[in-house]
Amino acid sequence: MSFSQYLAEQQAIADGALDRVVPGEAQSPETIHKAMRYSLFAGGKRVRPILCMEACRTVGRRVEGVEFAAATLELIHTYSLIHDDLPALDNDDLRRGRPTNHVVFGEAMAILAGDSLLTLAFQVLAQLKGLDAAVRCALIEELSVAAGTVEGMIAGQVRDIEGEKAEPTAERLDAIHRAKTGALLRGSVRMGALYGGATDEELAALTTYGEAIGLAFQIVDDILDIEQSSEQLGKTAGKDAAQHKITFPVVYGLERSKAMAAEQLAKAHSSLEMFGERAARLRQLADKIVHRDA
Ligand code: IPE
Ligand code: IPE
Ligand code: MG
Ligand code: MG
Ligand code: MG
Repeated sequence: MSFSQYLAEQQAIADGALDRVVPGEAQSPETIHKAMRYSLFAGGKRVRPILCMEACRTVGRRVEGVEFAAATLELIHTYSLIHDDLPALDNDDLRRGRPTNHVVFGEAMAILAGDSLLTLAFQVLAQLKGLDAAVRCALIEELSVAAGTVEGMIAGQVRDIEGEKAEPTAERLDAIHRAKTGALLRGSVRMGALYGGATDEELAALTTYGEAIGLAFQIVDDILDIEQSSEQLGKTAGKDAAQHKITFPVVYGLERSKAMAAEQLAKAHSSLEMFGERAARLRQLADKIVHRDA
């Protein structure tokens, strides 16, 4: 199977699991379920659930049902995007090629849609079937830490916003990116590894992989914000400069930023050595993250 066929198939698996866990639009109160589904099913790349499922397969001691654990990462990610776009945060009106959630449903409903996706993620993990309670708890812990205020996604969002009025230093940049985007990508890989029954050694290797691709992912997001059009990205291009964000191109320039993404890619590849051919798809996914165009 070609890599693009594989990606399409994995996106369909993630979408299928999401569709099963999110209440239907006819469920009362309809507005909130419509708002949740509007942003969820708007054509995201599904990078986090795919990484989770593939890390799980790479370890391979248990894979059945991993798509439901993987779907929780997309619930959290989509919540973070809805809130990231709010007028009080990045104030964006385009996301995944459509008007943002608050533009369509109003700010109150967009805040609640984000809250709902966040809450649902932990309900789904708590309800996972056929797993030891200890593994379920480990998954819940992993996701809550990755999304949280101590080096998790919220920590990064806070630093990102406060960074708009601060000097763009390398230290600030690193602290923002590792947390706001890196933590959830690292957590995606680790959740897959935990679901798959990883040994300590396997978990450590996959954690290194997750950290490298997590940082690379946001370096490339910063580069694309400069080099691509809004149409290509499905979100407003040129936002970072307009809002004085601390980004890789601001601190290091475009060429050095690209070289740094390539360095993280090399690190991701070398972290997978112990898995041999079993990690072939994880290698391709790392390549795709660095060489993507949206
Ligand atoms: C965008 O994430 C926000 C960042 C963390 C950089 P993605 O680039 O994964 O967006 P979707 O999910 O494909 O829309
Ligand atoms: C967002 O980073 C990271 C999140 C936690 C949502 P950005 O603000 O750079 O994401 P985009 O560029 O709007 O997708
Ligand atoms: Mg932001
Ligand atoms: Mg933003
Ligand atoms: Mg961005």
